Amino acid sequence: MNILYAASEAQPLAASGGLADVAGSLPKALVEEGHDARVVLPLYVNTIKPQWREKMTYVTNFTVPVGWRHQYCGLFTAQINNVTYYLLDNEYYFKRDFGLYGYYDDAERYAFFSRAVLEMLKVIDFKPQVINSNDWQCALIPVYYSMFYRNDSKLWGIKNVFTIHNIQYQGRYGMELLEDVLGIPKHFASLMEYDRDVNFMKAAIEVSDKVTTVSPTYAREILDPWFSHGLDRALKDKQYKTCGFLNGIDTDMYNPATDPVIPEKFTTSKKAGKKVCSQKLLEQVGLPQGDEPILGMVSRLVEHKGFDLVKCVFDDIIKLGYKVVVLGSGDAQYEQFFHEMRWRYPDRVAFTCGYIPDLAKKIYAGANMFLMPSKSEPCGLAQMISLRYGTIPIVRKTGGLADSIIDYGDENGTGFTFQSYNAHDMLYAVKRAKDCYWNKTEWNKLVTRAMKADFSWKQSAKLYIGLYKELAGEQ
Ligand code: GLC
Repeated sequence: MNILYAASEAQPLAASGGLADVAGSLPKALVEEGHDARVVLPLYVNTIKPQWREKMTYVTNFTVPVGWRHQYCGLFTAQINNVTYYLLDNEYYFKRDFGLYGYYDDAERYAFFSRAVLEMLKVIDFKPQVINSNDWQCALIPVYYSMFYRNDSKLWGIKNVFTIHNIQYQGRYGMELLEDVLGIPKHFASLMEYDRDVNFMKAAIEVSDKVTTVSPTYAREILDPWFSHGLDRALKDKQYKTCGFLNGIDTDMYNPATDPVIPEKFTTSKKAGKKVCSQKLLEQVGLPQGDEPILGMVSRLVEHKGFDLVKCVFDDIIKLGYKVVVLGSGDAQYEQFFHEMRWRYPDRVAFTCGYIPDLAKKIYAGANMFLMPSKSEPCGLAQMISLRYGTIPIVRKTGGLADSIIDYGDENGTGFTFQSYNAHDMLYAVKRAKDCYWNKTEWNKLVTRAMKADFSWKQSAKLYIGLYKELAGEQ
């Protein structure tokens, strides 16, 4: 099948979160299954490293209508991990100094990108049967397709899948953007409108042939106002075309047997290397050596990741005998909190403010437990990466965490889970993990089970292919 995967970020070129991991690894898995899956993303001039820039070749350029404006778009292509990447170039929109998003004109930047993706299909020699667009930044692709391109002779018959990675970010703007900035005629206002605003995601949900999310549990949860950030009403009568497929991870990139970044490699049968990874981790983050369990956290420091629970019982976690290693940045209140904890417990707590991919891997490999008490979690990748490195996840049973981690109470258990969003329920799971840790035979069995759990893309890629084929009428 021919599939175009449209995203605003993709590994290894540009990343700010889990979407980039998925956009970097799902198309690769689709190609491995024998399909022609290609990725399209903006050419972020200051973000994409020179080593990747060198791989890109110029193809052509064309003009993109954005409201009343007509903007230049250059097209570059590159082969990365056997996948064809298309990069859309316009320096006015994508040469920025402070990361990928968060600019005053994001609505216009991604309206441009979405329209450019469709214009690109008029000039290249590749016709996808399905376009899979991701998150609000690409939500206007199915929308523009349905408005302006579905009768175009070159684009006729393409099916649209829209994937929600996080429903919190919907692309919500004032109605005044409709015609001038987005170039959408007034008679489409009711399609774009939701709660008196323009809402990119709502419109994509409306017009796409299928809507997917990144775990089956999250697909159900977002029908509830507590999880949906207001969009449950848009999703309720679209259940017939909505489903959730659990993400996978790139098991080549995250492999303790071959990972060049971790200090010592290890496997299920030779686990000694993990101990070395723990020692080196303690050394690197400036904590004393010792046998106490190491609890790792790598996360954006924002409320929905559950940091209010961590704050509430942090002293108790320390009293249980843990060393805690945290990497992340985000809300000032949580950054401040971990700085304080580091001062209060200099021998027990390490905090690195920021995001350092190599250190993240060293934490996945060197910690014994990994804490993810998220309030909501569409899928979550860190718990799967932790499992692969024999680091036992302690998670709240929500979204993808509920779909990927089985509690230790079950004979196939791979982690410790708790249900209610409550600090003491979390603490109890953290305590159970510590008790198990000191029972060395049991812990060893648990670590082996965790490392053997299969979260490669193989299964989920098949689900996506099934869905694409169904839409294209191939089954
Ligand atoms: C978002 C979600 C995360 C998910 C990722 C990839 O970042 O918050 O749960 O794993 O997208 O789908």
